Amino acid sequence: METILVKDIFKLPTDGSPIVVRGWVRTKRDSKNLVFIEINDGSCFKGLQLTFDRTMGLSAETEAAIERAATGASVEAKGSLVPSPGTGQAVEVAAESLVVVGDAPAETYPLQKKRHSFEYLREVGHLRARTNTFAAVARVRSRLSFAIHEFFQKRGFQYMHAPIITASDCEGAGAMFQVTTLDLDALAKSGKAVDYAKDFFGKRSYLTVSGQLEAETYATALSRIYTFGPTFRAENSNTTRHLAEFWMVEPEVAFAHLEDNMALAEDFLKSLFSCALSDCRDDLEFFDSRIQNGIIATLESVVKSKFSHLTYTDAVKELEKHADAFEFKPYWGCDLQSEHEKFLTEKVCGGPTIVTDYPKEIKAFYMKQNDDGKTVRAMDVLVPRLGEIIGGSEREERLDVLEKRLLEVGLKPEDYWWYLDLRRYGTVPHSGFGLGFERLILYVTGMTNIRDVIPYPRAVGQADF
Ligand code: 4AD
Ligand code: MG
Repeated sequence: METILVKDIFKLPTDGSPIVVRGWVRTKRDSKNLVFIEINDGSCFKGLQLTFDRTMGLSAETEAAIERAATGASVEAKGSLVPSPGTGQAVEVAAESLVVVGDAPAETYPLQKKRHSFEYLREVGHLRARTNTFAAVARVRSRLSFAIHEFFQKRGFQYMHAPIITASDCEGAGAMFQVTTLDLDALAKSGKAVDYAKDFFGKRSYLTVSGQLEAETYATALSRIYTFGPTFRAENSNTTRHLAEFWMVEPEVAFAHLEDNMALAEDFLKSLFSCALSDCRDDLEFFDSRIQNGIIATLESVVKSKFSHLTYTDAVKELEKHADAFEFKPYWGCDLQSEHEKFLTEKVCGGPTIVTDYPKEIKAFYMKQNDDGKTVRAMDVLVPRLGEIIGGSEREERLDVLEKRLLEVGLKPEDYWWYLDLRRYGTVPHSGFGLGFERLILYVTGMTNIRDVIPYPRAVGQADF
C-alpha cells in the first residue's frame, strides 16, 4: 500500500477501511491488554496514536515488534482508522500488526522522551528536527518561504537569482568572506605578496553580503523583482540575532519612492503573519503554549494594526528622554543599538515601527540623499523583542550625487561602473529592502536564538554538520 502522510490520515473518514501508517515512535505505553504507540512523521504537529488490543489476538511477530518499538525507532503498522475513545485525539489507528523498520536503542539514542535543552539539541543538530520544536520551526520556514513567492508573484514581481560569489561589497561594511582557490599554505611559506590575478576569478572575490546591487540591474529592466537566497557576513558578532550565513529576501522596485517601499514592507510582513496564523495554526499553538506566551494574539493584533512611522531624528529625541534606560547613550548620529530599537517598539510605539531618514554616515553609499545634506532616505522596520527585521531605502538615482558619495566613503567609482551605468542610461527613482528570513522566523515563532530557526547555523566558531 502506498505511503500516506499522517497529516492526510487525519482527513480520512473513520470508516474502518484498511490503512498502512509509517513514522517514528515518540512514546509507548504498555498496559495489560492495551498498547498505545504514538508515532510522528513530521508532516504535521500532531502524532498518530496506534492502539493494539491484545484481546483481539496479536501475532508473535507483532508482540516482538512492540517490544522493540523504542522512542526514535521507525515503524510501519497496519490496521484501520477509527474514532478514538480516549482523550487527547479524535482518531486513532486500531492496529493489527507492527513491523520495526529501524531500531533506535534506548541506551544510545540521543533524544529521549524527556525535554532537552536547546543547547543540547544544537549538539545533535542532525537529529533535532525529530523534536516537536524543531519540526514546527521547519514547517513554518517551509510555509513562509512559499508565502514569500506567493506574495510577490501575485503582485507582478519576477524572481531573480542574484549571484552568491561577487567582487563588490554591497553594504560597505567590510565583513565579507573571501573566496579563493589559492594555496594558502604555499603562499604563507613563500612569504610573497598575494597576486590575485592568479586567483580563480582573476581578482579578489567574496561571498555576497546582499544581492541588492545586482537586483537593481534587473529592477531597472523588469520593473519589479525580488531575490531570496543565502547571504554571508563575516561579522564577529556572537549574538542571538546574527548568523554568518542567513537567508535574505530582497524586493527591488522601479519608479518607487520611500513611501511606496514602506507600504510594501508593511503589506509583505502582514501577509506573512496572516499566512502563518492560518496555515501553521497547530505549530503556532505549540509556540504559544510552550515557547512564547501570547504570540498568536500578538500576530493577530499586528496584522490589524498600522505600523508606526518615526524619523531617526524624532526617534533619537525620544530615546534621549530616557537616556538612563540604556547602556549605550543615544545621541544624534549614533547607530541605533538593539536596546534602542527594542525600546522604540516596545515602550514608545507599542508595535512594529518604521524608522526613516537616518544620518548618511551610518548608512550604505547607495541610499538617496535628502536635501538637508545630512540624512538619507533609509528605512528600518523594527519589531518588539528583536529590533531590526528589515533594512532598506530609496536608492540614489542621480549619477553625480552617487559618484560623489562613492568617493566620500573611499570607494572607487570605476569598480562600480556597471552600477553607475544604471544611472547613466534610463535612470529612475527606485527602492527596495532586505528582510532577514531567520529574524522573521524568530518573530513569528517566538523562538529566542537565531541558531534555532535555521537547520544548520553557521556563526563564529560554528560550522558543524
Ligand atoms: O540591513 P541590511 O544589512 O540591508 C541590506 O543588506 C540591504 N542591501 C537590503 C536591501 O535594501 N536590499 O540587511 C537586511 C536584513 C536586516 O534587517 C536583518 O533582518 C538581516 O538582513 N540581517 C541578518 N540576519 C541574520 N544574521 C545577520 N548577520 C544579519 N545581517 C542582516
Ligand atoms: Mg540594516
